[in-house]
This record gives sequence, structure tokens and C-alpha cells, in this order.
Amino acid sequence: MYNIRIEKTATPKKKPGADDPLKFGTIFTDHMFVCDYIEGQGWVDPRIVPYQPLSLDPSCMVFHYGQEMFEGLKAYKSEDGRTLLFRPDKNWERAKNSNIRLCMPEIPKDMFLQALNDLVKLDADWIPTKPGTSLYIRPFMFATDPFLGVRPSNTYKFLIILSPVGAYYESGLDPVKIWIEDEYVRAVRGGIGEAKTGGNYVASLAAQVKAHEEGYAQVLWLDGVERKYIEEVGAMNIFFKINGTVVTPQLNGSILPGITRRSAIELCREWGIPVEERKISVDEIVEAARTGAMEECFGTGTAAVVSPVGELRYENEKMAITGGKIGPVTQRIYDTITGIQLGKVEGPEGWSVEVK
Ligand code: PLP
Ligand code: COI
Repeated sequence: MYNIRIEKTATPKKKPGADDPLKFGTIFTDHMFVCDYIEGQGWVDPRIVPYQPLSLDPSCMVFHYGQEMFEGLKAYKSEDGRTLLFRPDKNWERAKNSNIRLCMPEIPKDMFLQALNDLVKLDADWIPTKPGTSLYIRPFMFATDPFLGVRPSNTYKFLIILSPVGAYYESGLDPVKIWIEDEYVRAVRGGIGEAKTGGNYVASLAAQVKAHEEGYAQVLWLDGVERKYIEEVGAMNIFFKINGTVVTPQLNGSILPGITRRSAIELCREWGIPVEERKISVDEIVEAARTGAMEECFGTGTAAVVSPVGELRYENEKMAITGGKIGPVTQRIYDTITGIQLGKVEGPEGWSVEVK
């Protein structure tokens, strides 16, 4: 067991009411986890302290060269009052891979999991219980050396903050409209696309702004070399059901290995629904939409959960999917994953972890 010191707030904040809108990522709880890394000493002083601003040197390396990574997962309250996390070990594993790619020190697994547990336990009263709500957990780590040269930092901070949230999309659980981007690209193989790091998201902003202006919720990226193969959405992995088979782009180094993606694939396999991870060209998608072979389309992600896609737009073509409604496989995956997250459905071993 990792020993984490706790300093409780003397001035707890007012929590949102049961019916208050929980606009994604705007409200933060009373406490946060902080730990410092110093080359030669390792991780020092893991602590939970009142949620507060940070004081950082303006020359701090993260501000200049973006050496940082983050994670995202959620905590839920079950009907019988337990606090549950969904596959938190997978977030640690992905954090480790991001750390390696970004030349950052690894976060010890026992510290990562204990910090999640202790922080969520302390702020458990902040977990909203209305359907569709949860406590979003944001672990993140960044370079803190006060230095303007380009090299990996020797010092870092690792923090975890918590935010009670409702639906990620303004449309809630209604199908979202997605813009297939053919001008900008997000990532290339050999780059940092499969790491969860801010650089990938800033690269996505120009296309997202364009898509929003056209009335689309998010961008669906094509590969960065040929702009021909489907990659992923701004904050979700993407799935299609074509002629009875569920297909999703294979992990190729430039897309994020989503934990919800992996869970959806594992569930389909367990149910005997054919599922393929492979290269999917945008032409195949357009053709499937035109001929009616495209039966369903949905995105998966922690923030977005399982989001039906009601319309895809590519160049000047608007493709309506499932008549703008949620399809049966999408619904089944949504019900099962949210059921496991809320402790209503028994999931595979290790998918639901109780905070104690
Ligand atoms: N792809 C991107 C770019 C994301 O930001 C996310 C969100 O985390 C995902 C995919 C889905 O990953 P996960 O299911 O682990 O949340
Ligand atoms: C998540 O689902 O955790 C994400 O990373 C989406 C985020 C960019 C809001």
C-alpha cells in the first residue's frame, strides 16, 4: 500500500445540486493529488491537498515544448452506494506507454492506483448519480524544469483532478454529426498519435473549429499520409457495422488505443458478433453508406461513452446512418458498458474496481 498524505480543505465548496447542469469539465471537486518527480530521487511527497492553483516558473519546459501527458477515466456510484472505477489498470498501462514515447519517467502502478482510490474516496460525495452523469478523473503529468533548451526535463509534476460531468456532447445521447476531415491531419505513424498528450489535441483544433462552423460535433480523421484510411474521432475511436460485421481501424501507431474501444471489441467477441480491426478506407465507408450496407456507426470514449453517429459528411456528401437513430448493436454495447460501470451488470474480471 502506498502512503499518501492527506491535507483536507478547511473550506469545502458548494456541490452542484442534483438537477444542476454539469457542463463537461467546468466544475472541480475539493481536493487534488500531487506528486513531484526529481531525477536521482524519483517520485517524492505524494499528497492529496485542497484543489488550488499551481505556481510555476514561466520558463517551465511544458509551456514551451509541450512535454506532458494525460489520462481520462470515470468514477460511478452504484445503486447500493459503492464507488466504482472502470478498468483503471488500463489507464495506468496507457499512461506508461505515453510516458515512454514522450521520454518521461514512468508513474509507479501502485502509486497511480492508490492515488486514484484515495482521492476519489475523499471526494466521493461529489459523484453525481443522475443517469448519464459521473465523476470524470483527469490524471496528468508535465515537465517542470525551468529551462529553454530542448531535451527531456529532469523534474515533473503528476496531478489528478476530479470533475462531476454530464454528457460530453451538447446533444446528450442523441446521435452526433461527424465531419470527415480531408485537409488537416492529426497524427502520422512514428509521431505521437498513440500517446495521450496535448500536442495531438492542439493539432486537432483548426479542423474542429471548421467542423463546428459547419454544424458538426467532431472531426473524423483520415490517415496523415494518404488521407485515405479512417483513423479516429477527436475524442473517440470509431466503429462501423457493415453487412453484419463490426469494423474499427486497427491500432497503427497514429490512433489512440482507447479503453472503451478495447472493451467494445471484447464484448462483441464474447457475444459472437463478428468484429474486425483492420484498415478501412473512406471510399469503403462512402460506398457502404450509399448502398445501405452501413448498418450502424458509433464512437467510443471515456468522456463520450458510446455515442451513436447519425450523420457523416465527406466532401460534399452527407450520409445519414441508421435513419439518425441509435442502432441495436450500439445500444447493446452502450447498455452493457454503462451497466458494468454502474455495477448493475456483471462484467469480465477486473473491469469494475471498487474504491475502498
Ligand atoms: N481517441 C481520442 C483522440 C481520445 O481523446 C479518446 C478519449 O480518451 C479516445 C480515442 C477514447 O479512449 P478511451 O476509450 O480510453 O477513453
Ligand atoms: C476522454 O474521453 O477521456 C478524453 O480524452 C476526451 C477529452 C479530450 C475530453
